[in-house]
Amino acid sequence: MVAKLQAVRGMNDLLPAASPRWRGAEQRLQAVLARYGYEEIRLPLVEPTELFARTIGEVTDIVEKEMYTFQDRNGDSLTLRPEGTAGVVRAGIEHGLFQGQLLRLWYQGPMFRHERPQRGRYRQFHQLGAECFGSAEPELDAELIAMTAQFWRELGLSGLRLEINSLGSREARAAYRDRLQAYFRDHQAALDADSLRRLDTNPLRILDSKNPDLAALIAAAPSLPEHLDADSRAHFERLCALLDALGVAYTVNPRLVRGLDYYGRTVFEWVTDTLGAQGTVCAGGRYDTLVEQLGGRPTPAIGFALGLERLLDLLAACGVDPATPGEIWYLVSAPGACRAQAMVLAQQLRAAADAPTVLLDHSAGNFGKQVQRADKAGARVALILGEDELAGGTITVRMLRATRTTQETVPRDAIHATVTRLAAQERP
Ligand code: HAM
Repeated sequence: MVAKLQAVRGMNDLLPAASPRWRGAEQRLQAVLARYGYEEIRLPLVEPTELFARTIGEVTDIVEKEMYTFQDRNGDSLTLRPEGTAGVVRAGIEHGLFQGQLLRLWYQGPMFRHERPQRGRYRQFHQLGAECFGSAEPELDAELIAMTAQFWRELGLSGLRLEINSLGSREARAAYRDRLQAYFRDHQAALDADSLRRLDTNPLRILDSKNPDLAALIAAAPSLPEHLDADSRAHFERLCALLDALGVAYTVNPRLVRGLDYYGRTVFEWVTDTLGAQGTVCAGGRYDTLVEQLGGRPTPAIGFALGLERLLDLLAACGVDPATPGEIWYLVSAPGACRAQAMVLAQQLRAAADAPTVLLDHSAGNFGKQVQRADKAGARVALILGEDELAGGTITVRMLRATRTTQETVPRDAIHATVTRLAAQERP
């Protein structure tokens, strides 16, 4: 027996029943991005492996164990992108986009991480991300975070909470890292295997541990805010004041460190309790030194990415349907000359820029069956073209969603006016 072919584990098909909700959500997010001046950038799904090792960091979970890396036929090591920021920075340097002025970019598409699949965590997932280059001022942090708050308002979502923190300068973080390492070394016997592994390479990540046995130890660990350099502290205080002024509520979470190496200063996450363990819907932060580190001119930057699967899951859990239902007109006709005329008519109707979806019944069924199918397809209007209509150059317009059936036979150039008039009569 031939083995049944299936999608790769952790990689989902997006079926037609779900795509209107996805498209609706994406359109609303994109409309907000446009209002804030963000322009779209589309990038390859595959990049040189080295790009991710040098940006996300050699000793992060992503680079250590989650990347889809392979050799192509030339023997080059390539990787399916696990996130979008690295590619945006690479492209910005390559095409000379960083010229000192503000540059606001957004992207959307699949990302790949070989994680253990569960609700909200997939191996191919979709992000919508935004990156703002060219200013280190906290005003940009506040503007970007306020934009994400606007996303939720636009979608009618509540119940997401914003957590923010500052990681400080590179030097301050290095000093803090040493303090933290010394602290956890002193308590080495209490650490689990994962934390022991991180102790030498990335002790900040121990703070992220979800192991309840470590909670007390982590709570008593030296705290990052106490190690902030003065400039970063002032930057963070200004950001907090701006968020207050903008009416964006937040909590400062001193344990928020994020899992990618490129961050410094501001980091933030939008979190919900509704989705279980994978409750971070949107996350980001500053990465002021990354462009320079990859060979570009010094260009401070901040950005975020939101997980579309998690967002759509949250929308469903909150009973919000972002789909904008489309209008369907359904052409019912007798076979032969009537069908041919109906095809011509459908083609003419679809030519208008604001045309509804026009479906033509291609079956040999009688009018009753065709109208039933029109109903099932969700059509609001049936356009009936039988022998009488063919001979008279007319069409019968029937409103399918009215409480009582209304229909009229009219000249074919009066279809739109008739639909509008009959629709108006439907309203009480
Ligand atoms: P990240 O925290 O790795 O950040 O991912 C951002 C978001 O992508 C997460 O909060 C989550 O919603 C979603 N996500 C991540 N992994 C998965 C997964 N396996 N399955 C489903 N959803 C997932 C970044 O990727 C940074 N590039 C964000 C950024 C942009 N920072 C600055 N600019």
